[in-house]
Amino acid sequence: MAEKQRIDKLVASSGKYTRSEVKKLIRAGLVLVDGIAVRSGDEKADPETVEIRVKGEVLTWRRFTWLMMNKPAGLLSATEDGRQKTVLDLLPQELQRQELFPVGRLDKDTEGLLLLTNDGATAHELLSPKKHVDKVYYTRTAGWLTEADCQRFREGIHLDDGLDCLPAELEIITAGEESEAYVTLREGKFHQVKRMLAYCGKPVLYLKRVSMGNLTLDPALEKGCYRFLTEDEVNLLCRK
Ligand code: URA
Repeated sequence: MAEKQRIDKLVASSGKYTRSEVKKLIRAGLVLVDGIAVRSGDEKADPETVEIRVKGEVLTWRRFTWLMMNKPAGLLSATEDGRQKTVLDLLPQELQRQELFPVGRLDKDTEGLLLLTNDGATAHELLSPKKHVDKVYYTRTAGWLTEADCQRFREGIHLDDGLDCLPAELEIITAGEESEAYVTLREGKFHQVKRMLAYCGKPVLYLKRVSMGNLTLDPALEKGCYRFLTEDEVNLLCRK
């Protein structure tokens, strides 16, 4: 059982409708709780024990919200910043009210898969190096990547600034004056991919996260767009 909550809040928290749309839907008799039209948004219900239908469709209630975003360059992976825009600025008000935060940071100029949630415990687990959740990045670098670089990644790089990186994977896609590769890390230290590749003398020109654990960036998600994770995707994440 969950706590009883206001119906208007429950419907708005699905992210499908704004608060003012929810009001109109309730006035139009299109929000039903266990088959009975709700008369006022401040009526309360336990979302785990009742069935809520909006315009005939069952509302799937989840205790926590999980979003997948295709982060564009130019935004901070933070919840707020006095001066610069953050990824939360891409979300509508209804979702901004849900205390979502990014699961691990991507640099301002990094693009790609960013998860946002208000499930602190699971987010913490996903980020723990002990959990071995692989993060895969696509990267373009200046300079010719070689098998020796792959070997360095496999052995675990000891950076000049003292950081010991866990063994990681470098998979070269194409090598040339500019090279392309996938980098797989099990940790997420500050600027880690950039620092590891800079150590090899191949500075990063472009970086995009393509997967995290069992979850891959949805190719249908345009830059700057987000979607809710499906129930299966949340379960997959929590398993690893
Ligand atoms: N490594 C980096 O260098 N930057 C990121 O944004 C993520 C991983």
